[in-house]
Amino acid sequence: MHFFPSTILMQKVTASSTQAGIASLAAGITVDKPVEFTYQELFNATEGFNITRKIGQGGFGAVYYAELVGEKAAIKKMDMKATQEFLAELKALTHVHHLNLVRFIGYCTESSLFLVYEFVENGNLSQHLRGTGYEPLSWAERVRIALDSARGLEYIHEHTVPVYIHRDIKSANILIDKNTRAKVADLGLAKLTEVGGASLQTRVVGTFGYMPPEYFQYGEVSRKVDVYAFGVVLYELISAKDAIVQSTDGSASGSKVLVYLFEETLTAPDPEEGLKKLIDPKLGDDYPIDAILMMTQLAKVCTEEDPKLRPTMRSVVVALMTLSSMSFGI
Ligand SMILES: Nc1ncnc2c1ncn2[C@@H]1O[C@H](COP(=O)(O)OP(=O)(O)OP(=O)(O)O)[C@@H](O)[C@H]1O
Ligand SMILES: [Mg+2]
Repeated sequence: MHFFPSTILMQKVTASSTQAGIASLAAGITVDKPVEFTYQELFNATEGFNITRKIGQGGFGAVYYAELVGEKAAIKKMDMKATQEFLAELKALTHVHHLNLVRFIGYCTESSLFLVYEFVENGNLSQHLRGTGYEPLSWAERVRIALDSARGLEYIHEHTVPVYIHRDIKSANILIDKNTRAKVADLGLAKLTEVGGASLQTRVVGTFGYMPPEYFQYGEVSRKVDVYAFGVVLYELISAKDAIVQSTDGSASGSKVLVYLFEETLTAPDPEEGLKKLIDPKLGDDYPIDAILMMTQLAKVCTEEDPKLRPTMRSVVVALMTLSSMSFGI
């Protein structure tokens, strides 16, 4: 169990005060130290936020590759300023450590808000499923990615106090490392939009196609919001389709939510036949159909309209462990 202290007692250090950190470690005192970087440090680490260092652009701002204190990092230059409340949240997040969560290293509030994360070198799941330049993921790798990200999510749902809800689970926020292991990214960012004030009104927290009805319609937030989005990711792993499937003629009116596409198939007279048509062709014949059926069933319960009918992430992890043993060596 991981507890967040109500008053966050934490030693604030700058990157240049690592000596002090080493000294306290030597003294046997373990303190979580979110690093507060200076703008100059981040500027230097990114060659002046050079365009060649830009990895991508998300809903919150631009992401740059950096080398900081000898470590590879990803710096998010946020389009907004942080409130004190958000900074407190952020500092608490540095207590959350898990192999399947992208590590938050530190931040900077000079001139703009910057968040510094560990750099995960092998792209995100969306790119692996649909992008160019990546080998197709095998069935066993897909199951492992599902299990890894489920474990990361289970950790924030079950082992942090207060409970964290991610609210923006999607394949673009599941990062892949060089061993094709998965880590959940952007933990805590939804909170920023919640406490960030008026300038953020236009930003919908969450991504269309991943949001369950109770959240989308009434703004009801619970852990089951993440479970629903995770179910959509499972459907993506099976089909390699986007959460919103574009119509073949490219018209917006013909586009379909992936969840509904699967639901239609599963309620049709011959669901298995229909399902076979939805399976990612890149898998060839290299998959156990029983395992695919099981993952589909799991995705289906995760995306139940009624949040109470969706399983907890703990149950999802257990189900995926069984699936993993069925998929071994495929
Ligand atoms: N820690 C990281 N290591 C490596 N790449 C990262 C890291 N964080 C983000 N990226 C990459 O940077 C790009 C932009 O990420 P960003 O999180 O800003 O946008 P997004 O995930 O597409 O959308 P959202 O803003 O909703 O999270 C993505 O391609 C993502 O894979
Ligand atoms: Mg992201």
